Amino acid sequence: TAIRTPLIAGNWKMYKTGTQAVAAAKQLADLSKGAQGVDIMIAPTALSLPLVAAALGENSPVRLGAQNIYPGKEGAFTGEVSGEMIRDAGADYVIIGHSERRQYFGETDEIVGFKIRAALDAGLIPVMCIGETESQREADKTFFILDKQISDGLKGFDLKELDSLILAYEPVWAIGTGKTAGPEQVKEVHGFLRTLLKEKYAEDLAAKIRILYGGSVKPGNIKDLMQLEDVDGALVGGASLNPEDFNKIIRF
Ligand code: G3P
Repeated sequence: TAIRTPLIAGNWKMYKTGTQAVAAAKQLADLSKGAQGVDIMIAPTALSLPLVAAALGENSPVRLGAQNIYPGKEGAFTGEVSGEMIRDAGADYVIIGHSERRQYFGETDEIVGFKIRAALDAGLIPVMCIGETESQREADKTFFILDKQISDGLKGFDLKELDSLILAYEPVWAIGTGKTAGPEQVKEVHGFLRTLLKEKYAEDLAAKIRILYGGSVKPGNIKDLMQLEDVDGALVGGASLNPEDFNKIIRF
């Protein structure tokens, strides 16, 4: 894993006002000072991005991400936010295809692909989320679903374009439920994903892409997760809202 710097990312979802986001980000920047060998990212609501960016300053090791992007440059799309706007607001990353967006906002693999394209066009690093539901796992469809999400979501992209891509494996049944996938399950899936990338694209790309785990990551389980060979970081929901907990996770 030496060539892959771990990334610990916090998805704040629809929590924290701008004022609260600024306070938490500042506290995190303070606590996480001196953390080595880890990339840190937080994703507040788009509305808070400029405020948090200004509070952290341009050279902060705490980087910013958006939680969603509209797959189009600009136009009459009431309520939407473009990649250029996200970039201009001070973010480097964007989370795409989170299971909540797939589940509640009808995001398909095809839309995920459009959004990845929009992110890359705007110079943002896409964090592409994939994961099976509980019933899919029970029906032994986990690998099939993950393969489909990757194949359909990344259809039409060529090797070079995917250089900056980050994958986040979030088993839907482990999100916000307190159920973490066991080390064996995580190891199995991350290994599968690495092999899939190797077979579909190329060995060097597969070796470069960071695969994060997400789903009830806490200070108490991060160490075991990070010890797994193909786990290159975490996408943290609930526990990222508390700067002290998140700082402990960063220091896995
Ligand atoms: O994107 C991160 C997320 O879905 C995991 O949430 O609260 O289980 O850490 P949580």
